[in-house]
Amino acid sequence: MQMTDLIAKKRDGGTLTTEEIEFIIQGYTAGTIPDYQMSALCMAIVFQGMNDRETLDMTMAMMHSGETLDLSPIQGIKGDKHSTGGVGDKTSLILCPMVAACGVKIAKMSGRGLGHTGGTIDKLESFPGFVTGISEERFFENVNRIGIAIAGQTANLVPADKKLYALRDVTGTVPSIPLIVSSIMSKKLASGADVIVLDVKCGSGAFMKTEEQARELARGLTRVGRLAGRKVCAVITDMDEPLGYAVGNAIEVKEAISVLRGETKGELLELCLALGSCILTESGIAESDSQAREMLQETIAMGSALKKLAELVEGQYGDPAAVYDTSLLPAAPVTIEVESEQAGYVRHIEAEQVGLVSMHLGGGRATKESTIDLSVGLELHKKVADHVEAGESLATIYAPNEQKAAEAAALLRRCYTFSDTPVEKPKFIKDIIR
Ligand code: URA
Repeated sequence: MQMTDLIAKKRDGGTLTTEEIEFIIQGYTAGTIPDYQMSALCMAIVFQGMNDRETLDMTMAMMHSGETLDLSPIQGIKGDKHSTGGVGDKTSLILCPMVAACGVKIAKMSGRGLGHTGGTIDKLESFPGFVTGISEERFFENVNRIGIAIAGQTANLVPADKKLYALRDVTGTVPSIPLIVSSIMSKKLASGADVIVLDVKCGSGAFMKTEEQARELARGLTRVGRLAGRKVCAVITDMDEPLGYAVGNAIEVKEAISVLRGETKGELLELCLALGSCILTESGIAESDSQAREMLQETIAMGSALKKLAELVEGQYGDPAAVYDTSLLPAAPVTIEVESEQAGYVRHIEAEQVGLVSMHLGGGRATKESTIDLSVGLELHKKVADHVEAGESLATIYAPNEQKAAEAAALLRRCYTFSDTPVEKPKFIKDIIR
């Protein structure tokens, strides 16, 4: 088999066979197919696409490029969640304890975040003493004993994607539904869960800018997941403004705890109920969405989800007292209010730019090697459609020093646009694809 023939076949609209796709992924991972040929093939795929069978073959070939997690030592249904990423996304910190409290086993491998804030495991490190790199033995023991463990990726999962995604990133070949589907689903399938729920974001702060693109991606992801024998559903949600109020690390943990305590409602809770209902119904633990929602709401009312978070923290050597007393979490030395320079209704908040404000404060990573400051970030007080008076606070900035605080305040003000007349809040949950 010659890679040049396969590039030409795809360029001319042909369909690659299973063997050809395996040859490509194995060769690229092993280094016998060079970057320049792989990028030419990716560009051909961007223009010609791939059918469902090719996308599934690509996903499976990538999944088998490294280790896969065997979750069979864990009794019960194993659930997992993936988000296509957005600003202020602390959903896993709420959803995982909620569904674990309902009996779904959460054995989650999570990557560190690159960009505006840390990932879930960075955020969990806000709990004093929390260890993300626990041994495999402890990981399985915790899931069996308390129902939940969230660890940093230790296994050599999907090396093909690490190499391929980095290549696509610098060759203009990220925006292709089959390439995105195989990239995301190879990692999710390798992580071993029986039931996978996907949060596909759309809007200015998301990877998919339009609802139609998000819908197409969600359909592709769920189709391939099902063809691979897993139960998969997707929820399409708005990311035109940040999710919830907090953007940062420890402050996102505080917001998550406030949802688990039943003190904060709104879209963040709605999202967790929608994602959680998918997991509980697909797992067979609930018979209907309404029963699932009731069960999930009960975990908040009875405090069982908060307790589950405390057990997760304790199981990974962290201090569970910080779950009940958030003053024990890292706190930034400087706090300032960002006052609005005008009155009006909030028309739009540029989500991606808000993420960059958090990054400017030190809450995110520019490169894999950067360290992040868990204490910094911002808390929005005004969201789209809210009315604001001139001089009223739009947000609180949590900064490492006065200068960064002032710079962040100026940047954040620019993220807001206003209208003199009332603004309609966009629909938050756009669709659920089962
Ligand atoms: N996220 C991924 O993991 N892969 C892609 O290709 C795009 C987004």
